[in-house]
This record gives sequence, C-alpha cells and structure tokens, in this order.
Amino acid sequence: MASSTASPATLPSTNKAAYITAAKAHPLQVSNTPNPVTLPSQPNELLIRNHAVAMNPIDWKMQAWAHIPIAYPAILGNDIAGTVVAVHPDATHGFRPGDRVLACPHGFDTKKDEHKGFQEHTVVLAELTARLPSSMSFEEAVVLPMGIATAASGFFNPELLGLRFPTLLSAGQSSTDGKKEEKQKQEEVLLVSGGASAVGGNTIQLAAAAGYTVLATASPKNFDAVKKLGATAVFDYNRYPAAAANETPGEESNSELVTDILAAVPAGAVVVGAFDAVGKSGWHIAAEFMARAVEAGIVADRPGAEAGAGKVFVATASPDWSTPTPRNAELKAMYSLSIIRSDIARKVFNEFLEPALAQGQIKAWPEPLVFGHGLEKVQGALDLLKDGEVSGQKVVVTL
Ligand SMILES: NC(=O)c1ccc[n+]([C@@H]2O[C@H](COP(=O)([O-])OP(=O)(O)OC[C@H]3O[C@@H](n4cnc5c(N)ncnc54)[C@H](OP(=O)(O)O)[C@@H]3O)[C@@H](O)[C@H]2O)c1
Repeated sequence: MASSTASPATLPSTNKAAYITAAKAHPLQVSNTPNPVTLPSQPNELLIRNHAVAMNPIDWKMQAWAHIPIAYPAILGNDIAGTVVAVHPDATHGFRPGDRVLACPHGFDTKKDEHKGFQEHTVVLAELTARLPSSMSFEEAVVLPMGIATAASGFFNPELLGLRFPTLLSAGQSSTDGKKEEKQKQEEVLLVSGGASAVGGNTIQLAAAAGYTVLATASPKNFDAVKKLGATAVFDYNRYPAAAANETPGEESNSELVTDILAAVPAGAVVVGAFDAVGKSGWHIAAEFMARAVEAGIVADRPGAEAGAGKVFVATASPDWSTPTPRNAELKAMYSLSIIRSDIARKVFNEFLEPALAQGQIKAWPEPLVFGHGLEKVQGALDLLKDGEVSGQKVVVTL
C-alpha cells in the first residue's frame, strides 16, 4: 500500500497559512508555516491540498472574542475542499491521491495547526471526508462539511435528538417517491429553527432524506430555498418580536408564530423534536413550540429519554446559558466534532453524503459567496460574515 502515499520528496516544501498572531489580533497574517507540510501519521488521516475554504461564525468569534483558549500564533478554519495529496501507508478507507473531496477539519478538537483549514494543506480524518461528484466545484462543496457535521451531531447523537439515519434513494427514485412511501407511516415532524443557516439547511436535508416532515423558520427571501432543501412549510421568525430582537420572550410567548407552526403539524402526526440551528432566540421559538406540542399531547417519546417523559427538549447549535430557558425547557448543545467519537461521522460522510452528492439527493447549501482568491482574502471574508449581512449564503475563499 506504500505506493498510495505521496513520497515526501514530491510534496511542496512550503505551506502558506493565515495566522492569528495573538488574542484578538486583526488582521490575520499570511506567511509560510515553520513546518512545511505534515504527512498523515494515522491510517485514517489524509493530507489535502485545499482549493477552497469557507468561513464559519466560530472563526470570527475566536478572533474577535478570544473566548476559547488557544496557543498563539494559531491557524483557524473549519471547512475545506481540495485534492487528496497523500494517505497513510496502512490506510483502509479507500481515498487515494488525486481524489477531489470536501472535509471538515478537526483542529478545533486537537488544537493542532496541521488540522486547521486556513492554509494550503490540511491533515483531515477520512471519516469527516467525502469525494465530490465531477460536476461539483470546490467552492460549491466547501459550504457543506461543518454544516453537515453540526447537523449530524444534533440529529443523530442519542443524547440529543437521536433520530434515524437517512436512506439513499434507489436507482430511478426521486425524493418525492421517498416521501410518498414515508406518508404511509405515521408522519413524524421536526421543527428546524433557523432553516436558512448552514447548520439548519443541512439539518433539513438530512431530516427530509430520513423521511421526517420538516417545519422551519427563516426570512421570507429564503422560503423557496428552504422548501427546496426539504421543508414542507416555512415561517417568518421576524414576526416574533423576541426572536428578531434576540430577547427572552414574555407575554408574546403565546405568539401567533408558534400557533401558526403548530397548526402546520398534520393531523395524526407526532412531533419528534426541535432543532435550534442558530442560537440567539431561535431556541425560544423551539422551546415554546415543544412546550405547546407537549401540552397538546403530540410529542413522541424521545429515543433514550424515559418513556412518556414528554419533556420540553431542544437541541441547540449555539446555547446561551446566561438567560433562562423558556418553559423550563431542557436545552442540550450540539458539537460538530462529537460525531467522530462514534460511528456517526463515518455513516454520514462516507456512507451517505458521498453517494447522496453523486445522485443529487444532497445539494450544496448555503449558496457559496466567493469573496476572493488567496489566503490574503480570508480576513476580509471573516469580517464580511461578522458584519452579519450574509443571508442564505456561505462566504468562501478559493486557493
Ligand atoms: N456547536 C457547534 O458545533 C456549531 C457548529 C457550527 C455552527 N455553530 C453555531 O451555529 C450557529 C449557526 O451557524 P451557521 O454557520 O449555520 O450560521 P449562518 O449560516 O451564518 O446563519 C445565518 C442564517 O441564520 C438565520 N438566522 C439568524 N438568526 C435567526 C433567528 N433568530 N431565527 C431563525 N433564523 C435565524 C438567518 O436566516 P435568514 O437570512 O433567513 O433570516 C441567516 O441567513 C452559529 O451560532 C454558530 O456559531 C455551532
């Protein structure tokens, strides 16, 4: 198998990266790394030459807030797409040099620079990597990995929503055919609060592929896109004053919005959970929805929870522990990289995502907003995301 690895002699002798040099330092500094290129040291590791990187809220938050302890200088970055350059000699995962892939780097977990995204080369885990169809560009693909990983962590982890895995469409089957088959069973409803976000949109895609009926919140300009991802009905959260203002709801908790969402739950259906993809006040709506669904007696027992518990439970991508949770809901935070601690990552990235991309069952979401080319553009791209004007798009830099 040694022939499947690149020989160190064929690897580049430099590796440019965008560094944060000290806590809250701005802008990032682009320079060659002291250790040029790191080869995979474990059988499940791959070395990728990155051709596109995407910006995530955690990148600008870590730079602006320095709220997560790291050793400086450090590289950031959690979404990459590129070409496999080298694999470990003992690899059994099937990836080969030359494969075009997307990957979710795991450097947030290991705190090692070689596992971060904002550089020319990154060492990634095979179980967080998927090959791309030839029709998919790197800038399209790079919007997916972190969104899919986070969605998967909230959706599949038994201590969060613990929902079932999606199934691939069989040859000649359309996603509508799949829905028709599912309709013969009791309908199961999931609320995705923040359906237009990267995390929310990809949760909708996984949920729809697993046969759930998805209700979602978003701004009206994203309604069509969110429906195309698989939501059956979408609701404007801006009508909920506390949500728009990011405040704890008071009197308005019996809001028209939650009433409208509940009215869209089909007769005879059960609610399987609420997934808050945006934090902020997204979980207020989710908690209120669940509380009222529990009162209505339409909530399914949560897998892993006590039978008949009927708990007001919300899985959230971005918890705010500083404000009381409405309705005493139980709020549990998801963590994207938790999926490598079980077989969820492999099942989602290797067994489902790769073929689902090839047959078009999963689409690139959000739409890429290419900010520019080269690592020097990463800072401007992060600033654009931090400004908060990006909607239904993911800021991308090509390399
Ligand atoms: N725990 C983890 O491991 C993890 C991993 C990744 C992300 N996150 C967190 O998850 C959150 C989402 O990340 P992302 O990358 O998916 O964000 P994103 O794509 O940048 O989200 C932007 C979208 O969020 C929607 N939105 C904002 N506030 C909303 C609200 N109150 N209700 C409903 N929708 C709202 C907006 O939709 P409209 O334009 O339609 O209004 C906007 O388009 C962030 O807080 C991020 O830090 C956590």
